[in-house]
Amino acid sequence: VDVDPSAYEHGQIDGRPRMYTEMLEQPASVERALRGRLDERFATAHLGGLEMDARELRAVRRVKILGCGSAYYVGQMGASLIEELARIPADAEAASEFRYRSPVIEPDTLYVAVSQSGETIDTLLAVEEVRRKGGRVIGLVNVVGSAIARACDGGIYLHAGPEIAVASTKALTTMFVGFALLALQLGRVRDLSVADGRRLVAGLQKLPAQIEQVLEGEERIAQAGTALAPAESLFFVGRVRGYPVAREGAQKFKEISYRHAEAYQMSELKHGPLALISPEVPTVAVVPDDELTDRNVAALHEIAARGGPLVVVTHAGVDLGELAAERIDVPRNERELDPLLLTVPLQLLAYHAALALGHDVDKPRNLAKSVTVE
Ligand code: AGP
Repeated sequence: VDVDPSAYEHGQIDGRPRMYTEMLEQPASVERALRGRLDERFATAHLGGLEMDARELRAVRRVKILGCGSAYYVGQMGASLIEELARIPADAEAASEFRYRSPVIEPDTLYVAVSQSGETIDTLLAVEEVRRKGGRVIGLVNVVGSAIARACDGGIYLHAGPEIAVASTKALTTMFVGFALLALQLGRVRDLSVADGRRLVAGLQKLPAQIEQVLEGEERIAQAGTALAPAESLFFVGRVRGYPVAREGAQKFKEISYRHAEAYQMSELKHGPLALISPEVPTVAVVPDDELTDRNVAALHEIAARGGPLVVVTHAGVDLGELAAERIDVPRNERELDPLLLTVPLQLLAYHAALALGHDVDKPRNLAKSVTVE
């Protein structure tokens, strides 16, 4: 999976869709997103573009992340990272809803707008709403000099490189990296220990090679994706760190396969959706090896007992018995960074399901790369 970026710039590689080349480019784009931003000596990150000194970073009492679609789901992953590493209350909200509820803007909240294109009108208008009411917004944006980048007080460029396929892949993984760097810097000016800082710095450095490893498992993921293609309806489930991964997985699947893919918190299944589980409705489950594994496996038993076929994205060593029709193991890293490595196989899964259905993955129906009108 060695992709020459200059070949990429000029279009397809070996006649493969752009989405495919962009997925393959992720080790390189994540590496670029990290470059020059990690400080091993002080076990922290340096994000000069934030335009905030240590005193201002310490004064942040809350973080509110705003984005649309997949950027919103990665924002949810980012909120978890910030809460876990910096112990600052954080949440993500769909930027498309934000301004319609006359939001209260607090001076000690840091607002973060996240966008690949930097041109999404709903995210731009949310930024303008915050700034009009005196709030500070930073941007996590890919396209340099874009409208959102210009409207923010400061920010982090993602350095994913040009992303052309409508279904976003490499921009999303660099967004996750951007949030991890932000969480690390916010954490280290507060109570995150040197030991934890070092742990995260080392974990981030491992990511490009580990993404490569996931991509090398494409054949197996392709089989699973092809097997899922005939299903008219699917569930994607996960909990806590795994839930936004499931949301993003379902989003990718819907966008290019046109199948009904619904994301649910694994813990909520028994409060309703279990009624829909049957041999015709497969479930893609995100089950990392973490403090929730046993509970997640118990929920998988509930699905299997109703004949629901299971594809499980997990870590080697998680005992699934005979539960899963397909299991996809991703490499282990620090738990906080698991969402990124769990997300990549779901991109490939959606891609191969769409190919099996004969769809043009680069031009999904009814969708545009960036939504610049309300
Ligand atoms: C992602 O696969 C989608 N095409 C879509 O949800 C996208 O993430 C969303 O429209 C936001 O775009 P942006 O990152 O350019 O703001």
